[in-house]
Amino acid sequence: MPASLLVASNRGPLSFVHDEDGGLTGRRGGGGLVSAFTGIGSDAHALWVCCALGDADRQAATAAPGGRLDLAGHDTDGLQVRMLADADGIDAFTFGRAYNAVANSTLWFLHHLLYATATTPCFDTAFTREWESFTAYNRAFAAALAEDAAPGAKVLVQDYHLTLTPRQLRELRPDLRIAHFSHTPWAPVDYFRLLPDAIAREVLLGVLGADHAGFLAPRWVSAFLDCCEQVLGATVDRGGCTVTYAGRTTRVAVHALGIDPAELRQRSQRPDVATKEQALRAQIGACKVVARVDRTELSKNIVRGLLAYRELLRRHPEWRRRVVHIAGAYPSRHDLPEYREYTAHVLRLADEIEEEFGEPGWSPLLVSVEDDFARSLATYRVADVLLVNPVRDGMNLVAKEGPALSDQACALILSTEAGAAHELSEHALMVNPYDVSATADALHRALSMTPDERRERARGLVAAACALPPQRWFGDQVDALDA
Ligand code: G6P
Repeated sequence: MPASLLVASNRGPLSFVHDEDGGLTGRRGGGGLVSAFTGIGSDAHALWVCCALGDADRQAATAAPGGRLDLAGHDTDGLQVRMLADADGIDAFTFGRAYNAVANSTLWFLHHLLYATATTPCFDTAFTREWESFTAYNRAFAAALAEDAAPGAKVLVQDYHLTLTPRQLRELRPDLRIAHFSHTPWAPVDYFRLLPDAIAREVLLGVLGADHAGFLAPRWVSAFLDCCEQVLGATVDRGGCTVTYAGRTTRVAVHALGIDPAELRQRSQRPDVATKEQALRAQIGACKVVARVDRTELSKNIVRGLLAYRELLRRHPEWRRRVVHIAGAYPSRHDLPEYREYTAHVLRLADEIEEEFGEPGWSPLLVSVEDDFARSLATYRVADVLLVNPVRDGMNLVAKEGPALSDQACALILSTEAGAAHELSEHALMVNPYDVSATADALHRALSMTPDERRERARGLVAAACALPPQRWFGDQVDALDA
């Protein structure tokens, strides 16, 4: 039966790995979108369209009738899930170019200001081919959505991977009500202009194919409106938050995303978290804990975070033997050389810090590069100070999860460049993420904070973090399509 509510995203709610005897094991993903859509999507008329990301996904998608994982008997928590692969026009090659070369090496770099512009980016003929693959990958999503959507259905398209899909889908199915949501920041207009002119226009027109374009923070809305006005020459109504171009109007809105504290606390009470917490407590002893939990992601600014910690130990020797930095930096996007180099840089710096300060009975730093959710939750629980210093981030949910789970009302050091700053700045210690010395000062100030001040700030942090749970974030966007 055609679906009346559809979600489209690159990464779906389920992924597969090959097990030892060559079979497939499915793993359910986490994140706000999964819990929000699972909440309402187990309704039989809702469908999630996603993409096969690796070989095992590809095999599962190909074996499932019409790519429908639920029909193939996989546990999708009541959701209908269609995973696109070769039969839909997304073979491994097309996917690689679309995901690695364009989505993650170009659009992600653009929106997070990650280029070293003296030498990158270089848009040459190789990029032209990569862009063609990206267009084809977006078109495959548009075709699948057009095929499975009931008349007048609502379609919620997610993120920069699918920036062209709303427009392509509208051309196929003008009856649909389409939303696009950007989970990233949006690049400032002068930086956005790094893209070749025609591609810059295509990206904007892609999003404007939607009736409703959502962003995580007012700054990203404002940047998007600047781009529409100055790059496209669209008519922008800032008061009414609309963009009109070629006779069509798109509403633009902020939908901030918070956490579901009940779900998080429930997960953190499972025995695997207690085991990890015990192990961590044995390692840290009576020391205070500065914690961070990130993907090893260029935009997360782990290197400057470590430099700030080193500066703290140099300038404030009184903290030596009294503090431990737990840095969870789990692997991400390792197909990209920049990410492999970044991970090596993080590990090199960690060794240097251990070498400079470590002594028998005290390791200043515990770095873990394994993807271990239970350990991440345990890390939140033992944190006295949580360091969240991205160079730029759409929202950053670690800044919201940490305070909600910390056993001792942790202090939060937060980058002014995270979307979460808009909601949390009053209760956090704010830092310019490029200013290593200011970050070291903030570490000292946070570690020295009185328990009363910490509790007071933590109350504010937790209230703000829980104000907009994923269900509400998602429901508001669905409702917006009725307008
Ligand atoms: C960001 C993006 C998501 C993406 C996630 C993980 O949060 O906004 O769309 O899924 O990073 O990245 P990955 O490349 O592993 O899917």
